[in-house]
Amino acid sequence: MGAGIDTRIFDDADALATAVADEICALAAVPSTRPFTIALAGGSTPKRLYELLAAPPRRDRVRWSDVELFFGDERAVPPEHPDSNYGMAKRALLDHVPVTAHRMAAEKDDAAGYARLLGERIPRRRNGIPIVDLVLLGMGEDGHTASLFPGTAALAERGAWVAMNDVPQLKTRRMTLTYPVLNAADRVWFLIAGAGKRTVVAECLAAAPRRDDPPPYPMLGVRPTDGELIWFLDKAAAGR
Ligand code: 6PG
Repeated sequence: MGAGIDTRIFDDADALATAVADEICALAAVPSTRPFTIALAGGSTPKRLYELLAAPPRRDRVRWSDVELFFGDERAVPPEHPDSNYGMAKRALLDHVPVTAHRMAAEKDDAAGYARLLGERIPRRRNGIPIVDLVLLGMGEDGHTASLFPGTAALAERGAWVAMNDVPQLKTRRMTLTYPVLNAADRVWFLIAGAGKRTVVAECLAAAPRRDDPPPYPMLGVRPTDGELIWFLDKAAAGR
């Protein structure tokens, strides 16, 4: 479906979440000598996925002690705030399974602290950058992903693994993984659902894959150097 991107299209958001949940169960079931690391996406789309992973039968298929969760981004609010990505994941998943999850305390402004945590917990490196086994991402209608919004400073970050990012269009600050970490991952899966995303999805898929100059939409800057990139779409977002 264009741009050399591996796109998988599902009837609706629930079918999309079910497919991703089953893929994660399969990945997490592979025996390994190290934890399977996942960076969770924020926003609303992944909520159903997290609920599916938190309930039988999938909850009991995953060896949660062999999984370690991180966050792709977070709003500068405490965990109990309704906008908190951690709070959403906690209600949907973390309260229901015995898993280690590392909250991004964006309200404390300590991007370097979260970067240190990534370095301590994820030993594998690609070009010196921690390799997350699976990064889950969403996409906004402006083509942002994580908290990499159009026109914001963190888009240009090529050194730091985590950044505090001023987002004037939302009059807020957020903490986000930067492109170096996202593109060092073994797998990056976008979960994109709803007709509201249709226009940007079509424009992103039509855009020629360019590695050098800034892409027209931030989410197009996510091109793993060696890892897998899959866009999971429902028909509404895919314009079907
Ligand atoms: C966030 C997310 C963000 C999200 C998109 C899509 O903190 O909001 O990280 O990048 O994935 O905004 O959000 P929806 O899933 O709610 O459409």
